[in-house]
Amino acid sequence: MEHTGPANPKFPELAGARAIVTGGATGIGRAIAAALSRQEVRVAIGDIDQKAAERAADELGGGAVAFAVDVRQRESVQAGFDGVARMFGGYDILVANAGVSTMRHALELTDEEWDFNFAVNTRGVFLSNQIAARHFVDSGSGTIVNTASLAAKVGAPLLAHYSASKFAVLGWTQALARELAPKGIRVNAVCPGFVKTSMQTREVEWEAKLRGIAPEQVIKEYIAQTPLGRLEAPEDVADVVVFLCSNSARFMTGQGVNVTGGVYTT
Ligand SMILES: NC(=O)c1ccc[n+]([C@@H]2O[C@H](COP(=O)([O-])OP(=O)(O)OC[C@H]3O[C@@H](n4cnc5c(N)ncnc54)[C@H](O)[C@@H]3O)[C@@H](O)[C@H]2O)c1
Repeated sequence: MEHTGPANPKFPELAGARAIVTGGATGIGRAIAAALSRQEVRVAIGDIDQKAAERAADELGGGAVAFAVDVRQRESVQAGFDGVARMFGGYDILVANAGVSTMRHALELTDEEWDFNFAVNTRGVFLSNQIAARHFVDSGSGTIVNTASLAAKVGAPLLAHYSASKFAVLGWTQALARELAPKGIRVNAVCPGFVKTSMQTREVEWEAKLRGIAPEQVIKEYIAQTPLGRLEAPEDVADVVVFLCSNSARFMTGQGVNVTGGVYTT
């Protein structure tokens, strides 16, 4: 059986749950918001691009809401998540998915690029996880899924700073999972491969320029590295995130689950 579209498994225990998805306006986050919504989860889409978040929430329906958040800023995350708690009467799921990348040879990398990638990808996960986890401890339950990357398992050329920021996400995820396990709060991560999103479009252009090859060649190489033989769809990631939020994953915590179409990772 070939399966390329989103699966539609039913996790009835998720119906009525409330989720925050950061970076949910587009790409992987948007697919996660849609997949949770199909399980009758009420979703709050938090994004630095408020207009795009509002469009995504409108298109989703099902009581989805949007809020502006910059995951780099504690006050912004606290205010955004508190606002969701007021609107929804609490929340049960956090998907910390907001992320950025830039591409550069390691020897030419600037301090600003390093700090930018770490501010969004690592500090953003720290802040959103901590603020949500405090809420979950107070309310007695909750689960967290962080979007890491294939580049969190294997150092990616031209993305050394991004790789480092995503390796850090897995270290944080493992440690937080162990601290929160006694309270029944699970913390996991997904590690996507070459996913067709606006981030990928930007990276393909940058990589083509840096390597002096055609963008089409870059994409060909992504597919050639992927045993399942195609670019990854955001929905491929989203279905696994839904599973990790569900009771079917009740004995999983501290994991960085590869969703890469078989690209070699540890
Ligand atoms: N596309 C891939 O191949 C791929 C592979 C592995 C991991 N990832 C990770 O998946 C996640 C989603 O990536 P994507 O490919 O959907 O990218 P994308 O650029 O399409 O979407 C990222 C979203 O995050 C938002 N965002 C950026 N900075 C933010 C901030 N400071 N605060 C709040 N929101 C912010 C953007 O506005 C955007 O809506 C990222 O963490 C990325 O690192 C992507």
